[in-house]
Amino acid sequence: MSQPVRIPDGFVEELKARIRPSDVIGRKVKLTKKGKEWVGLSPFTNEKTPSFYVNDQKRIFKCFSSGTGGDVINFIMETERLSFMEAVEKLAEEAGMQLPKASPQAVEEYDHRKRLVAACEAAAHWFEDRLHASEGAATRTYLEGRGLDPAAWKRHRLGYAPDDWRRTRGHLHAEGFTDKELVETGLIKESDKGGEPFDFFRGRLMFPITDVRGAVIAFGGRGLTPDAKPKYLNSGDTELFHKSTVLYRYKAAREALGAGEGGGLIVCEGYMDAIALAEAGFGHAVAPLGTALTEDQLQLIWKAGPEPVMCFDGDRAGLGAAYRALDRALPFVEPGRSVFFVLLPDGMDPDDLIRARGPMAMREQIEQRLPLSELLWRRERDAEPLDTPERQAGLEARLMTACGQIRHGGVKAAYERDLKSRLRDHMWALRDAKRSASYRKGRPGSGQIPADGEPAQAELKQGPPPKLRGLGTVVMAVDSPFLLAIGAETLAACALADPDVTKIRDVLLDLANAGKPIDRAVLTAHLTQTGFMRAASLLKEYPVTPQIAANGPEAREWLIALEQYVAAGRPGQEIPGSGMDDASGAASTSPSGWRRRHQMVAERRALKARMNEAAGKRSDS
Ligand code: UTP
Ligand code: MN
Repeated sequence: MSQPVRIPDGFVEELKARIRPSDVIGRKVKLTKKGKEWVGLSPFTNEKTPSFYVNDQKRIFKCFSSGTGGDVINFIMETERLSFMEAVEKLAEEAGMQLPKASPQAVEEYDHRKRLVAACEAAAHWFEDRLHASEGAATRTYLEGRGLDPAAWKRHRLGYAPDDWRRTRGHLHAEGFTDKELVETGLIKESDKGGEPFDFFRGRLMFPITDVRGAVIAFGGRGLTPDAKPKYLNSGDTELFHKSTVLYRYKAAREALGAGEGGGLIVCEGYMDAIALAEAGFGHAVAPLGTALTEDQLQLIWKAGPEPVMCFDGDRAGLGAAYRALDRALPFVEPGRSVFFVLLPDGMDPDDLIRARGPMAMREQIEQRLPLSELLWRRERDAEPLDTPERQAGLEARLMTACGQIRHGGVKAAYERDLKSRLRDHMWALRDAKRSASYRKGRPGSGQIPADGEPAQAELKQGPPPKLRGLGTVVMAVDSPFLLAIGAETLAACALADPDVTKIRDVLLDLANAGKPIDRAVLTAHLTQTGFMRAASLLKEYPVTPQIAANGPEAREWLIALEQYVAAGRPGQEIPGSGMDDASGAASTSPSGWRRRHQMVAERRALKARMNEAAGKRSDS
């Protein structure tokens, strides 16, 4: 509800600019100057040492003993128990500023809106009451069946609209409301055929919709039979209610979020989802009202917190809704202000997920939320195959067009950097996959790829003992960790003959997976601490490999080298070095030969597991 007097735009700012806070506050609190600020004893507590500060430059006060603070208007409201309007009026008089007198029309409009809100409130009460009456029995059973108990009905003020054309109207007449008022709230409709107006909501489970202050301004009503059309019926737009600027549960959600906690609201698709979330401990859940998220709604959401989570159903429609929200939000992202996304699994909505798997499953989903940039990347990446240079260029163009939507220069630049580097890594990974596919096909004469079992160029120069083949390739990734971005999975799939080289590789990948910084010192320390002394010294003593440029030929050579170690682990291939380790050449008959064979089988098995795991990871993401 707006105030009876509309304060002109800029009036409050002007007022605050004219009044020096220490003048007004100094009349109530004895202030002494301390640096740039004034200090005094809190007027809100009985403190002995002063912790009440006034800052005239920032035009604010802060009371550390009570935790209150704000501007001079807040101070007058607090200390004199006045409303915002009253405080403004009082200070305006003092500052010699004239508040425009409320016009008779403004007063009338205010009174009228107040009547409409009262009618909605009376209707909400009536629907709640009907839910508890005998005619509400089926709806009560329905709600119980959806896991909502009477305490929850009360918390969300759920109700039942009688399955009748005029009982709601009749009741609201008895409460003193006229047909004109009821039509204006959308609770009843004029008949086209010249008959009596009739009730809009009939035989439905009712959800009251409130404004930012908690006043009921509209309703949603869910049909109770599968054939009810539409499933959800919402009040049309009225003087009080503009669907596109309202969010279901907004006030309650803001309160649940608390002040200054960071984060933001959870935005879901429907009434029942918002309620299920709230009941599962996510009190900061809101929902739009059956329409795609509007810019006004987005601004409301950001008012509550800078990093809201959009939680959409795990179906096609949900993904579409997420994409629309993404496009809506993109122009307005700013440093620290964005939108995150949760796409629920298996076609579920939040209500389904919570009831099937519990609140913890929901919490996990929220923890795994995707940043806007990630969802944008995935959408564009997956829009079409990237099998031709034209299509690859198309992807880049789409990404840059999206960046162009962002109004904030710094964030736009950061997006451009982020998406370009994703693009680069992805193209490398694609080439990598393509190369290994053609290698697997055993396509001869692909020229680039050295013959089977042949060590990589870099290592021929280093000339490690045959047993240690692979060491140089692994060390290169330690010295140039960006290589992991293009080849971690291939590296994981390499069959490395030497257990200590394997160990170095495994530790390297573990650290990288955990997001730890990669360098020799960290790895060596890790190996020493876990008792792998030989591995530690192998790594320590290996000559420093040259820094490799991200898209130069060395990176490509490195990937090619990896491919060979992968190929070496495939059934039917000999693990490099298997025939060379045993000087006697009788590898399969000597006791140590048996041991080696045994170890090779184990290594192959482990390799296969890792490859499956890597493949699984890929299909998840
Ligand atoms: P859904 O159809 O996904 O329903 O609509 P739901 O939230 O899962 O509801 P239940 O679990 O079947 O009760 C999501 C939202 O879309 C709007 C409503 O706001 C609903 O909450 N909607 C849906 C309508 O406005 N009208 C409709 O006919 C259907
Ligand atoms: Mn549902």
